[in-house]
Amino acid sequence: MDGGMNRPRPVARLARGMPASDGAGVKLNRVIGTPQIADVDPFLMLDEFRSDDAADYIAGFPDHPHRGFETVTYMLAGRMRHGDNKGHTGRLEAGSVQWMTAGRGIVHSEMPEQENGLMQGFQLWVNLPAKDKMTEPRYQEIPPRDIPVAALPGGVTVKVIAGTVGDTTGPINGIATEPILLDLALPAGGRLSLPLPHGHNAFLYAFEGEAAVGETATRLTRGSIAVLGQGDSVLLTAPAGAARVLLAAGRPLNEPVARYGPFVMNTPDQLRQAILDFQAGRF
Ligand code: FE2
Repeated sequence: MDGGMNRPRPVARLARGMPASDGAGVKLNRVIGTPQIADVDPFLMLDEFRSDDAADYIAGFPDHPHRGFETVTYMLAGRMRHGDNKGHTGRLEAGSVQWMTAGRGIVHSEMPEQENGLMQGFQLWVNLPAKDKMTEPRYQEIPPRDIPVAALPGGVTVKVIAGTVGDTTGPINGIATEPILLDLALPAGGRLSLPLPHGHNAFLYAFEGEAAVGETATRLTRGSIAVLGQGDSVLLTAPAGAARVLLAAGRPLNEPVARYGPFVMNTPDQLRQAILDFQAGRF
């Protein structure tokens, strides 16, 4: 019983992403899903792609399957074309979000719709609870104009993709892990304090400039992740110039994870079944 005190969450783990390659050879910064940060339950992977050299992204992500979790694509710059084996297609343009609940299975591709210029964004993998792993696939595709921006004191702005900031609620709904996904922009000298649900796991990733986290003002440089410990809120400042930080929080599942490439289930048997079903064209 702390009498309603606001205890900012401390930094529990701090790490840099590591260079990786995925799809048909897209170069990216892997932030979660590395030897240092294997996962942040329910988040299984975070990749940042950012390059103005087409050789780094032009090969794209040709047809590949997913089962048992959700993929979230947040585009910051550039354009990709999405298509799947159910005939669903869409365009991922700068500022848009695609939240794909793969569920029982989907085979899809994400290919660049540009041959030069900057391509930048994130892909986040969010686990599904055991009871939902075989749910019907579902897409939530949000154009930039439908992502609300909360203006906070001191010039801080927050794009609310999922969750609520003050009286601003993001468009993503009906997700089992009750996620919060925010794009935070702090001006030089800016300060932000936001309550976070108790029990949610949370992390911050600095993708422009650098920020300082918690009461200890732990330095979070560009390309680094801070996994937060428990507490009431997230406290973030920008003492070294303007900064942009991705914040994600979600209710941990605390369930066994069996993963193999694009399949994330609870047991090795379920993984074998996923591979069999994919090979037999049952996705
Ligand atoms: Fe994918």
